[in-house]
Amino acid sequence: MLVLGIESSCDETAVALIEGQAGGEPRVLSSVISTQIPLHRLYGGVIPELASRNHSTNLPGVLKEALEQAGRSIHDVDVFASTAGPGLVAALLVGNTAAKALALTARKPFIAINHMEGHLLSPFIGRKEGLVPHLGLVVSGGHTLLIDVQGTGEYSLLGRSRDDAAGEAFDKVAKMLDLPYPGGPEIDKRAALGDATRFTFPRPMMHEPHLDFSFSGLKTAVLYTLPTLVESGNPHDLPEQDMNDLCAGVRQAIIDVLIHKTMKAAKQSGHKVIAVSGGVSCNKELREQMAEACRRRKIELVLPPAHFTTDNAAMIAYAGYLRAQIGAYSPLDTPVDPNLKLTGKQLRK
Ligand code: KG4
Ligand code: ZN
Repeated sequence: MLVLGIESSCDETAVALIEGQAGGEPRVLSSVISTQIPLHRLYGGVIPELASRNHSTNLPGVLKEALEQAGRSIHDVDVFASTAGPGLVAALLVGNTAAKALALTARKPFIAINHMEGHLLSPFIGRKEGLVPHLGLVVSGGHTLLIDVQGTGEYSLLGRSRDDAAGEAFDKVAKMLDLPYPGGPEIDKRAALGDATRFTFPRPMMHEPHLDFSFSGLKTAVLYTLPTLVESGNPHDLPEQDMNDLCAGVRQAIIDVLIHKTMKAAKQSGHKVIAVSGGVSCNKELREQMAEACRRRKIELVLPPAHFTTDNAAMIAYAGYLRAQIGAYSPLDTPVDPNLKLTGKQLRK
């Protein structure tokens, strides 16, 4: 079975092809991403109108390249899958409508995929043992979720951020420090040169018994710290080392909370496999510290390769492939939904 996936929920236009193997796990034949990040960086964040216009312009070329790299024709595709939400509605519509049109023309099935399901399952792409029941931590720009995964489409929400997502916290602190968008990679780069012990930022809810997160206090903490370092409170007046130490402190506060809550969830759920996904999971320090925490508890940690952590279409095609295996096709009138929840349980932001 050959599945074509399209992703256009935010600022990446992406197309991927995944093919089932006899008696084995499906193989990614191609994964092409055209990023609009340099464009949106000029405005300090994603401009929805600009994103959808650029998806429309970029999609035909990205589709052609993905088919060429895979060495397949559009006529070989058995299933068309596309992100249906959550995301920017006008951006979602571009990829979603394209996938539906292709499915209609080719008389092949269409599958609407929840973007968060794509992230959630992405660590298992290409894994020899395939998808297994596990505890999933999804850390993206819009969501921080702890999910008990029993199988394809069988998800229970264990914890979520009550305010900002982890990626959002990185992005907002970066904006406050006038670092370029997106903030995660920028803070990460500077944190590598900083001292994480100099500033002890709050770790809200870390020791509360529930599994929810709260990251919005971090930006306030940084806001109050700035004037103690430079009278002007202007981040441009900060000495280089102060800036790097601030970034290291922020990164470590986020990592500590994520690891602490994930380990608590593993204990409560009894899972011996943890998978971490989403844009923030490409953070090397988070990966290393999470790996160490798992090693100590004899838990297996499954991580996606860095190129499948941020938005891509391979994760959409993979989720489409798994859904096709259980016959979970979608009618062509399935709408896009900017606030789409993972079905089954009440998964909210
Ligand atoms: O999953 P993703 O590409 O998009 C969403 O679905 O939101 O995640 C993007 C988020 C952004 O907040 C970005 O700042 C963050 O992932 N991010 C990182 C790193 N690379 C991207 N956060 C921390 N460290 C990184 N190296
Ligand atoms: Zn994403």
